[in-house]
Amino acid sequence: MWRLLGQPDPFTVVELGAGNGLLCRDIVAAAGELPPNFLSCLSYVCLDRREGKLLNGQEPYGVNRVAAAGIPFRHLAGCIISNEYFDAFPVHQVTVVEGTLSEIYVTQEEGDLVTNAGALSDIALAARFDDLDLKLEEGQVAEVNLALRSWAQEAAQALHRGFILTVDYGDRASDLYSAQNRRRGTLTTFYNHTQIDAPLRYIGRQDITAQVDFTSLVNAGHSNGIEMLGFASQGQFLGRLGMASMQQRLRRLELPQIAAQANRAGMVDLVRPGGLGDFKVLAQGKNVENLELWGFGQSSAVDDEVQDLVDNIPVPLLIGHHLSLPKGLNMGGELEFDLGNLFDGPETG
Ligand SMILES: C[S@@+](CC[C@H](N)C(=O)[O-])C[C@H]1O[C@@H](n2cnc3c(N)ncnc32)[C@H](O)[C@@H]1O
Repeated sequence: MWRLLGQPDPFTVVELGAGNGLLCRDIVAAAGELPPNFLSCLSYVCLDRREGKLLNGQEPYGVNRVAAAGIPFRHLAGCIISNEYFDAFPVHQVTVVEGTLSEIYVTQEEGDLVTNAGALSDIALAARFDDLDLKLEEGQVAEVNLALRSWAQEAAQALHRGFILTVDYGDRASDLYSAQNRRRGTLTTFYNHTQIDAPLRYIGRQDITAQVDFTSLVNAGHSNGIEMLGFASQGQFLGRLGMASMQQRLRRLELPQIAAQANRAGMVDLVRPGGLGDFKVLAQGKNVENLELWGFGQSSAVDDEVQDLVDNIPVPLLIGHHLSLPKGLNMGGELEFDLGNLFDGPETG
């Protein structure tokens, strides 16, 4: 992306919902292995609505932290990146009752919290399905994130020229809202690392997530001059970025057996179908035209240029700050609620 933009200095990466900065650390660490000058041009901003500390309390070189719910920047050249950010947005839950699109509300009956369907609180909910040209079936439940439009407006204002790279679990609208596959919607909750699917329990103490409607994210971008450049599953994306050769090189490293196994499992997990490999990666761009980004090509073959790069950077290995595998396997969005425990470093002010 930096090269495609003509190597701007600074090349600003704004990570939305950066949490404890785990992804940021890995990106900045890897940036040091990339072609000369990239790291010195990289300005990385960890943005989160919570004023947390980065892992170990220390910002890596070139990283700043900002606490905000929006994107308080202008004139950026670079990339807005996020991992498991959109799934944490509040959603409206809707269903169809006697042929009418209705909203699901929470109410109290004899002291218990229960749900009831009623009239839509916002006509934008019906408009969303009109825009998508989709109709829900009687009794089908679905979630709608109405904040996408204002998000796209903010992103477009912040980004003068560059990219938006979004990694999250979700699907195209036609799959996400398919009555056959997802009749009960995708809203789910995690409490203490366990998926319990009970939004009316442990109020305020558990993580509530819903899968991301990537079609509406693309549409919201399009209305604001942000165009889709590529969409792939994480498995496809990493495959096209040379994952197989990284796995081969890992085998040749002759690590101690336990480390070798953990690293092998870590890599396999990232691309496993039915698991993290089904995460989606969406690339969008503003004021960039006809650019082909690595990782999204039609064929599954690895581009020669990518192969050359991948062959010349060290194999990324698990280190202390990565999640242990059992925790990682359970990962929904619960990291959001674990930040306190992960801040094990000194205060840095
Ligand atoms: C699951 S964590 C992602 C962690 C990080 N991206 C990573 O991969 O290491 C989601 C983060 O998004 C933040 N978040 C959720 N909604 C947000 C919003 N509207 N604005 C800013 N941050 C938000 C949460 O506080 C949380 O830290």
